[in-house]
Amino acid sequence: MKVDLNKVNKSYTKGKNDSLHVLEDIDFSIKEGEFVSLLGPSGCGKSTILKLIAGLSHPTSGDLKVNGTPVEGPGTDRVVVFQEGGLFPWMTVLENVTYGLKIKKMKRVEAEEKAMEGLRMVHLANFTNAYPHELSGGMKQRVAIARALVMDPDVLLMDEPFAALDEQTRLILHQELQDIWQKTGKTILFITHNIREALTLSDRVLLMSTRPGTIKQTFNVQASRPRNPSDSIIVDLEKRVMAELEEEMNKVLKEEFGDDYRYKTDSVRDRDNSDMGSHI
Ligand SMILES: Nc1ncnc2c1ncn2[C@@H]1O[C@H](COP(=O)(O)OP(=O)(O)O)[C@@H](O)[C@H]1O
Ligand SMILES: [Mg+2]
Repeated sequence: MKVDLNKVNKSYTKGKNDSLHVLEDIDFSIKEGEFVSLLGPSGCGKSTILKLIAGLSHPTSGDLKVNGTPVEGPGTDRVVVFQEGGLFPWMTVLENVTYGLKIKKMKRVEAEEKAMEGLRMVHLANFTNAYPHELSGGMKQRVAIARALVMDPDVLLMDEPFAALDEQTRLILHQELQDIWQKTGKTILFITHNIREALTLSDRVLLMSTRPGTIKQTFNVQASRPRNPSDSIIVDLEKRVMAELEEEMNKVLKEEFGDDYRYKTDSVRDRDNSDMGSHI
């Protein structure tokens, strides 16, 4: 197994005597070359799981292994792509992509060759000298993906990388990411609160419950690739995921609005991107 979580719990301390139980007994594994998504409402602990795997935070209890070795801190075997690509604004596209390679002490010529390979993969070979402020949101995320890929990580961790993009750009990037994944065979953990996005991209979708986050259900997506969100397998799965989520959403809404509010999944199904929204 590339990634292996066994009864992982995480609590954050809150003030002196209080703590927030964010993750409860999280158990899952990711096989080499697999594309797995974590799908769940905002605040359920998705980013916390990603930070634990990245070694940026530590479990309160439980086992967490990457390549069979317990995770003790960050490492270049795991690279994260965040929602806001986190590019250095004072560096060109090429400098941003070679940055990590230079830290790894790769020679400049070799680093630039590798960076160009990464940039060609995301169709930005003609933008090497551009600065981040000259790029669209989608282009910035492409640079962030290229920068992650050139590090040749064992596991690519993506935390809602397309959440801030418009729907059209997001759909294009879905196609590109599928393509990149097929070409590179990378192991990817992808986080999203968008149901259709999870189903379009993944081999397996792990649906999380609200806090304390647990893995509520697993969905295997057996549609052929390249995928299209209107594929009947995806559409059917979307309805099943929505039905599961109705319960979770009602829990959240009850906390926020009290007993008199019930969530209607039909209204969500009609929306065109099956987004779970920013706070539910
Ligand atoms: N460093 C932290 N300290 C305290 N609480 C945190 C910290 N990081 C996240 N949380 C809380 O943990 C919960 C889960 O957060 P997060 O993992 O970011 O959820 P998600 O990514 O699913 O939206 C939230 O209630 C959040 O406020
Ligand atoms: Mg998050």
